[in-house]
Amino acid sequence: MTTAPHHIFADDSLTVAEQAEVLDLGLDMVANPIRKSLQDRSVAVLFDKTSTRTRFSFDVGIYQLGGHPIIVDSGVSQMGKKESYQDTGAVLSRFVDAVVWRTGAHQNLHDMAETATVPIVNALCDDFHPCQILADLLTIKQRKGHLKGVKAVYLGDGANNMANSYMLGFATAGVDITIAAPEGFQPEQRFVDRAQVRADETGATLKVIGEPDVTGADVVITDTWVSMGMDADRDTSALRPFQVTPELMSTAARDAVFMHCLPAYRGYEVAAEVIDGPQSIVFDEAENRLHAQKALLEWLFR
Ligand code: CP
Ligand code: NVA
Repeated sequence: MTTAPHHIFADDSLTVAEQAEVLDLGLDMVANPIRKSLQDRSVAVLFDKTSTRTRFSFDVGIYQLGGHPIIVDSGVSQMGKKESYQDTGAVLSRFVDAVVWRTGAHQNLHDMAETATVPIVNALCDDFHPCQILADLLTIKQRKGHLKGVKAVYLGDGANNMANSYMLGFATAGVDITIAAPEGFQPEQRFVDRAQVRADETGATLKVIGEPDVTGADVVITDTWVSMGMDADRDTSALRPFQVTPELMSTAARDAVFMHCLPAYRGYEVAAEVIDGPQSIVFDEAENRLHAQKALLEWLFR
């Protein structure tokens, strides 16, 4: 009997206990980076959208685990336009041991999963970015020593993939998460409801507010106001009061940290003084993409 592969489509593809296991493994990856858990295994890493961190961290990470990464931009393959995601999933499953995929519509991942017999890992889609959230949680765990009860506020475009993943992934970790976004930029109720299920399980608080309020926050987070695939000219004027400025940071906890998944746009979602200042941990956060994803892959192959 064959068992269905464990796909990582969103931040609740891992249970509360499983996420904790992956994060503990992530800490171990930092201490012991070179290992052979992917020896003789190949991983397809596919990109329908541009990337720096995801591309490098998966390439280096799979190499450090003894595996073979095959990095492909979809534009130079048949997938999507000339061949369905279902046929692509069936074919890739004959060659590789896992598929990591950055795509647009979340449904694409499910289409490939109809035929794939190997795990598919979402490396960002329009709705979620679960690999980034594992890296962020690892970073907070390193900084604060624990996750439960940490207070995080995400400001800005509350209707994008990062906001959805922060709600879902942070609630799973027991981190209190508030999304601060103006009307028109707040998360869809279906994602809030889905995250609330996890918040109920862990005791985390989950809030959506309409003001840029970070009073007492331990972690202040933002993301680009214009995500990949969005109209570059979209009106983001309502987001201006949600820019993370030094004044805003001064109302957070005294030892608050600033996080951003990057790439960042100084002068828009964050002031240069903040992202380049002493409270910013954005490059530790970027490095942790490597450790967290290695942990996830090793965990999937256990
Ligand atoms: N944060 C992140 O996913 O970065 P890239 O788009 O560079 O991969
Ligand atoms: N919300 C951003 C995240 C980039 C890593 C985007 O989708 O473009």
